[in-house]
Amino acid sequence: MITKETINLIFDSAKIEEVVGEFVNLKKRGANFTGLCPFHDEKTPSFSVSASKGIYKCFGCGKGGNAVNFLMEHENYSYPEALKYLAKKYNIEVEETEPDPEEQQSIDEKEALFNITAFAQKYFNEVLLDSEEGKAIGLSYFKERGYTVDILKKFGLGYCLNKWDDFSRHAMKNGYDKELLIESSLSKSKDGSTYDTFRGRVIFPIHNLSGRVLGFGARIIKSEKNKPKYLNTAESNIYQKSKALYGLYFAKSAIVKEDNCFLVEGYTDVISLHQAGIENVISSSGTSLTIEQIRLIRRYTNNITLLFDSDAAGVKAAFRSIDMVLEEGLNVKIILFPEEEDPDSYAQKHRPAETKNFLQKNAVDFITFKARLLYDETKDDPIKKASLIKEIANTISLIPDPIIRTLYVQKCAGLVSIEEKILFMEINKLRRKKSKDKAITEIKEEQESELEEILSEKQLKPVESSDYQEKELLRALIQYGNEEISFVVKDENDKDVEKIVKVMDFLIDEILIDEIEFENKSCQSVFEEIVDLREKNAFDFEQHFLHHTNEEKKKFAIDITTTPYTVSDNWEKVHSIFILREKDNIKQNVERILYSFKLKKLEKILADNQETLKNTSDIEETMNCVAKDNKLKKIRTLIAKKLSRVVTK
Ligand code: CTP
Ligand code: MN
Repeated sequence: MITKETINLIFDSAKIEEVVGEFVNLKKRGANFTGLCPFHDEKTPSFSVSASKGIYKCFGCGKGGNAVNFLMEHENYSYPEALKYLAKKYNIEVEETEPDPEEQQSIDEKEALFNITAFAQKYFNEVLLDSEEGKAIGLSYFKERGYTVDILKKFGLGYCLNKWDDFSRHAMKNGYDKELLIESSLSKSKDGSTYDTFRGRVIFPIHNLSGRVLGFGARIIKSEKNKPKYLNTAESNIYQKSKALYGLYFAKSAIVKEDNCFLVEGYTDVISLHQAGIENVISSSGTSLTIEQIRLIRRYTNNITLLFDSDAAGVKAAFRSIDMVLEEGLNVKIILFPEEEDPDSYAQKHRPAETKNFLQKNAVDFITFKARLLYDETKDDPIKKASLIKEIANTISLIPDPIIRTLYVQKCAGLVSIEEKILFMEINKLRRKKSKDKAITEIKEEQESELEEILSEKQLKPVESSDYQEKELLRALIQYGNEEISFVVKDENDKDVEKIVKVMDFLIDEILIDEIEFENKSCQSVFEEIVDLREKNAFDFEQHFLHHTNEEKKKFAIDITTTPYTVSDNWEKVHSIFILREKDNIKQNVERILYSFKLKKLEKILADNQETLKNTSDIEETMNCVAKDNKLKKIRTLIAKKLSRVVTK
């Protein structure tokens, strides 16, 4: 990898006007330079280069960037290639760091695959053009299909001899090992012998954006039962069919110039249209169009024209592709070919001007396309007509841009004679539903990750009993219930005023409001009795319990009020300090006891909730539990804050 220092030096040294100036005739105009844009066809210059900012920008096609971007765009360089070009131009020594072993291995693997693939492409091409069998079978096949030698050379087409292992042996003689040959799909292995995958087939190399060959499509010469028409390179470290577009390397500058991209179904369609002078054409080669491919096209244009066969499969594929293209925010047109024709056969049967004319005349927007196809079926049947309108509305609803959406609504309303208002209603309903669905999945996803987090927390350990806190609270109630404590609160004019309350009122009300139950049954009954006593204005709780008629209750009350209740040595220590100062600090200690009690209760509820969460498979219950967990944790933070305030005071 090129070091950061070198990259910085290159960026500092490169003069944008000099770099661009090698490819574009620039004229100085004020502080900037202008010229004819190299990325689209124009007669008056809208391409501008700013020396001070180090950037170029075309106000016609919108392309812009720095010197490295320019080289990547104009010369199809990769990032390191562009950097190295500049380094050479400005005499900068390129410092490179060693990639780590893992990176190096991946680079080596890819390089090895690229190498064998390039080697094979050259071999197949030579066999096609120079060997006896190649000329007799491959070349004559291509010529019969109407391909010129120029076009064969441009696309690097080839032929693989119909001999068992001619290519494999040739490759191994040149140092490529068997594993690599198999990895690249070029050879297969059976019972220890290695043979050529594509033998007896004509070969279509598939190039990447910078023109390196990634893999091949190989067509059989004469159709044979049980043999596929095409064999293709399998997915590899360098070839992923969902990301590749056949012909893009040869088409990209034409796509930018025409600001449109024709998308066809096969290799031969691409080549025949090229030969007819239509170069802005690519193919997704046998796979249905993918989002990655659409995004790749979007780098060059916002306009895609889909060319489809008029068979049922073609129409179905068209419907799917239309929705995908629109959803990605691109504009789409459709050209349906006459029965039994594809772009290849059409271009071969007609003169280039006729083909161009056909494409121009027959490109329709998706509403016209859908309406035309479905209209015959609907005739005067209102139910069928309604479903046609819904079908179109559904597609319109996918368009992200509201202005474009509106234009299509108007068009559709006119075409199928329906009120725009009704169409808008339908589309908005669909969009609302879609965004609601999206919101629900998003919430679910969010909850899912929260859920994982909750379940992975160590909190799932059982919460210790709250016996200690319950008894402490009752002790405070019995011993200090009649004491008064003061709080500062806001009055109705937002003024701070002092409010005096009895400890019993403070504690009892807090517990009743929060509907907290005591775990220990004796504690619960003592608490209920205290609430009762308060009602009766019998406020001397200590006397009441110490002389209780129920022996058990009396014992229990004596127990909790006389011996400072202890759980651990640590608590004993804290506790004895607390006992010493308790009288002076009643308010603080009452608060501490209450918040510790509440915190303990809350932890128990949290743990129970998490237990439910762990055991449920019901989505509704899961969502409720996650929400509850959230809420409880917020309350826990609040209580913990209050607690730390009184403890550290
Ligand atoms: N395809 C494939 N494997 C097959 C059939 C088709 O990979 N068994 C891919 C090829 O990329 C092919 C495209 O799908 O180019 C379209 O298929 P089809 O229309 O059957 O082939 P054509 O491109 O029309 O080829 P030809 O004109 O030679 O029949
Ligand atoms: Mn065909």
